[in-house]
Amino acid sequence: MTGFKEDFLWGGAVAAHQIEGGWNEGSKGVSIADVMTAGANGVAREITDGVIPGKNYPNHEAIDFYHRYKEDIALFAEMGFKAFRTSIAWSRIFPNGDDAEPNEAGLQFYDDLFDELLKHDIEPVVTLSHFEIPYHLYKEYGGFRNRKLIDFFVKYSQVVMERYKDKVKYWMTFNEINNQADGYQDLHAFTNSAIIFEEGDNKAEVIYQASINELIASAKVVKLGHEINPDFEIGCMMAYVPVYPFSSNPDDVMASVKAMNRRFFYNDVHAKGEIPGYVLKEWEREGFYIEYTQEDLQALREGTVDYIGFSYYMSNTVTEINEVNTYSDHAVDQLSFTQNPYIQASDWGWPIDPVGLRYILNVLTQRYDLPLFIVENGFGAYDTVEEDGTIQDDYRIDYLREHILEMKKAVEEDGVDLMGYTPWGCIDIVSFGTGEMEKRYGFIHVDKDNKGEGTLERRKKASFDWYKKVIETNGEVL
Ligand code: BG6
Repeated sequence: MTGFKEDFLWGGAVAAHQIEGGWNEGSKGVSIADVMTAGANGVAREITDGVIPGKNYPNHEAIDFYHRYKEDIALFAEMGFKAFRTSIAWSRIFPNGDDAEPNEAGLQFYDDLFDELLKHDIEPVVTLSHFEIPYHLYKEYGGFRNRKLIDFFVKYSQVVMERYKDKVKYWMTFNEINNQADGYQDLHAFTNSAIIFEEGDNKAEVIYQASINELIASAKVVKLGHEINPDFEIGCMMAYVPVYPFSSNPDDVMASVKAMNRRFFYNDVHAKGEIPGYVLKEWEREGFYIEYTQEDLQALREGTVDYIGFSYYMSNTVTEINEVNTYSDHAVDQLSFTQNPYIQASDWGWPIDPVGLRYILNVLTQRYDLPLFIVENGFGAYDTVEEDGTIQDDYRIDYLREHILEMKKAVEEDGVDLMGYTPWGCIDIVSFGTGEMEKRYGFIHVDKDNKGEGTLERRKKASFDWYKKVIETNGEVL
């Protein structure tokens, strides 16, 4: 007998900015995703000063889900989806982020979208902020470095939670809130927090301030959400990349603890309602001044999450041994990351490690003892459309099968409380990291290339029927 619960939430996941398009329709405001150009494999996306005519902004049209969602949801229903995770584009609801009144056209769009899902018995799972902060909040306030954004986020969340209180039960606050801990890369500072570093910034201090502001905002929303509807299940959304010690050298083991603490910081606050000692000590040691009040600390305690939503794509490895080849392009605290000799990588260099999923499911259960929800996992790959129109994406099936097998062991053998599994990019969408269309994750192919050309026609891949069977058998047939 399978260990997955009867009501296990099988489905798929996307984010508004990567799927919808319609970037300036329905009175939507410009979001931070709208000023990011297309990069390429190994080439960073450019963040422009507003929308500049003539530049290629892949999120502006994305896959036109804004107009085609009914067709796409029908395909998800055909696969048997029980859940569909997407985000609400904040700037559809509050075009500038600080508007006095919400935008009715934006609210109506999500009413229609959620109704369409519910019509097919698909549970909407909603992220409130998935790299889509209204651009105006960066321009006018400097993003989440400014604590005024706490109130803007709470107001926006209150509006959508009240509006959809009878349609949406599962919520998450900030997508992959801990990305920004990984070395203060410009892309992550911008997408997590709408921050562009300025001269004289101590990047670590700026990111800690923004993070604390987001954690306070998140906690307030969790509390408020439970008041709006006590049946709401409200989670956090973490990116988990377990960082293994390269060797049994105790220094490597401690380096791994240190690297993992950078990720756990966010989850510790979300789940335990306290700022952990290892972070307070760091602030003291570095002389960081992070602003928060006694009321904020109270809010953190009162707004702990119901479950932990997280993405899992890969693991990483850290070492303190000097002779080992390391790459420190995003080194934090002099941590040196290195290749794991036991693990292969994808065409984009992402290590493929199914056992790492079981490992992190165990670690999270031990640390938090909360239900877990894998809200992203998947294999970004180049696909080929054969002459007969088929797409044989066996590599994707293999990746997903291996991960589901490990997930199953975590449930059946390790006793992990797992709510569901929504693989990333269940239909091909714009890549977040590179802005490419040809880094594909979907069960459904979309005819569009990196230049933005194509008919947008949808086509089932081999993985479509495979995943349908997985859902039908509740994970028995893989
Ligand atoms: C996660 C994000 O980082 O990974 C998604 O939550 C993103 O938005 C996904 O798309 C995969 O990353 P990428 O760069 O391959 O699109």
